[in-house]
Amino acid sequence: MDPVVVGISGASGSILAQRAIEALLNREIPVIATCSSAARMVWQEEMEEPFGTTLARWQESANFTYCPIGDLKAPIASGTTPTAGMIVMPCSASTLAAIAHGLSTNLLQRAADVCLKERRRLVIVPRETPVSTIHLENMLTLSRLGVTVLPPEPAFYLHPASVGDIVDFIVGRALDALGLPEFLDGRLRYQRRSE
Ligand SMILES: Cc1cc2nc3c(=O)[nH]c(=O)nc-3n(C[C@H](O)[C@H](O)[C@H](O)COP(=O)(O)O)c2cc1C
Repeated sequence: MDPVVVGISGASGSILAQRAIEALLNREIPVIATCSSAARMVWQEEMEEPFGTTLARWQESANFTYCPIGDLKAPIASGTTPTAGMIVMPCSASTLAAIAHGLSTNLLQRAADVCLKERRRLVIVPRETPVSTIHLENMLTLSRLGVTVLPPEPAFYLHPASVGDIVDFIVGRALDALGLPEFLDGRLRYQRRSE
């Protein structure tokens, strides 16, 4: 099948990107990932192992490809490369603004712009609080273009017992939004823990 593009930008929530990529690879779905410089800094703050160590593990999978953020000649910079869509997770306010305004100053932003112009699925997981009017307007711009805007909010009604539960819920919802058949069983994951 066509690969899913995962863009990791410099908002809090590195674990969301890690879990999403691992969920895709566990289902043998090809992944092409790119990660901004700021995202690497956030990863260093939030995660137990360096980004390079995690990246090396992903690269053991034949289904995984990594493209450096500055590589504007990478296949995902062109609409001629077929993909199953893209998730930007987590999505910083800066990357949100760049995508909403078509700036394409790095590979992540360009790959998202390609999804918009090719009318492919694009899911963004913006993480900032509180949000300014600028952030809200940028989210509205993307929503009107058909982008799924999915803030990483917990489902308190599911009584999550850990951060891991919350992360799994958000990742599940984001992957569901891509519309991949592999995730059509998503509803099963959203039952209350006691069920
Ligand atoms: C530890 C850390 C946490 C951050 N958390 C956020 C955040 O949650 N949301 C956000 O919009 N920016 C956050 N930032 C700021 C962004 O990383 C910064 O605006 C950066 O320029 C974003 O670049 P990028 O969009 O190219 O990844 C954080 C920065 C650091 C160092």
